[in-house]
Amino acid sequence: MTKSYTLGRRSIEALRGIDLEITKPGFHAIMGPSGSGKSTLLHLLAALDRPDQGEIEINGRRIDRMNESQLTMFRRHHIGIVFQQYNLLSTMSALENVTLPALLDGMPRSQRIDLGMNLLTTLGLADRAEHRPDALSGGEQQRVAIGRAILFEPSILYADEPTGNLDSQTSEQVLNLLATLARERNMIIVMVTHEPAAAAHCQRASILRDGRIVHTIDVHEGNVGELATRALQLDR
Ligand SMILES: Nc1ncnc2c1ncn2[C@@H]1O[C@H](COP(=O)(O)OP(=O)(O)O)[C@@H](O)[C@H]1O
Ligand SMILES: [Mg+2]
Repeated sequence: MTKSYTLGRRSIEALRGIDLEITKPGFHAIMGPSGSGKSTLLHLLAALDRPDQGEIEINGRRIDRMNESQLTMFRRHHIGIVFQQYNLLSTMSALENVTLPALLDGMPRSQRIDLGMNLLTTLGLADRAEHRPDALSGGEQQRVAIGRAILFEPSILYADEPTGNLDSQTSEQVLNLLATLARERNMIIVMVTHEPAAAAHCQRASILRDGRIVHTIDVHEGNVGELATRALQLDR
């Protein structure tokens, strides 16, 4: 698929022909230098924007053909997405934030509370349920954001630099959570990251450069070094 942006009279080719198939549950990294098209790719895959050309299929459904209201419903139930910024609502508690999709979906309050408390317990945040975001650490806020993204058990979760604002120890907690979700809930998780240490948690990594995928690597303990080298080479 392709995607370009128009800036004044200039056209920027952000994606120049991406062909990507992810069929198995697991943790997949997308790496590449700044401006290589990582966020654009994730936006298209999450149906937040549309490709100029090409097809995007998730769970056998062509999302590039859906209208806005079909997309809204499809996203809510089948796609989770988290960003570097946690995007939590500051006046709402952790429980209210994590159950926001259920509120939008019209679920009764008592059912929302049950669902939300179960999820917060899984995330190790049960004792933070009544806290507002400003009373939570960065790692806790990102875990709430992940909880909100997986409330309806989507088969696919996208994460755009989810540890970009976190220190290395907190990053590890968030990455371990994502790896566990991929493994135990049979989810596909696609994470954009700059950091080889983050990609080391993944089973595969695709490296993007100038809007094209230039390498796809099966990640294992033995080749994290190679991954770091390639990522560094590309950053130069
Ligand atoms: N909304 C936009 N309008 C114009 N150009 C954009 C827009 N979003 C991204 N771009 C351009 O598209 C290219 C890819 O951007 P992006 O997908 O954000 O890369 P990355 O996430 O890898 O840093 C860059 O050249 C960027 O400047
Ligand atoms: Mg980006």
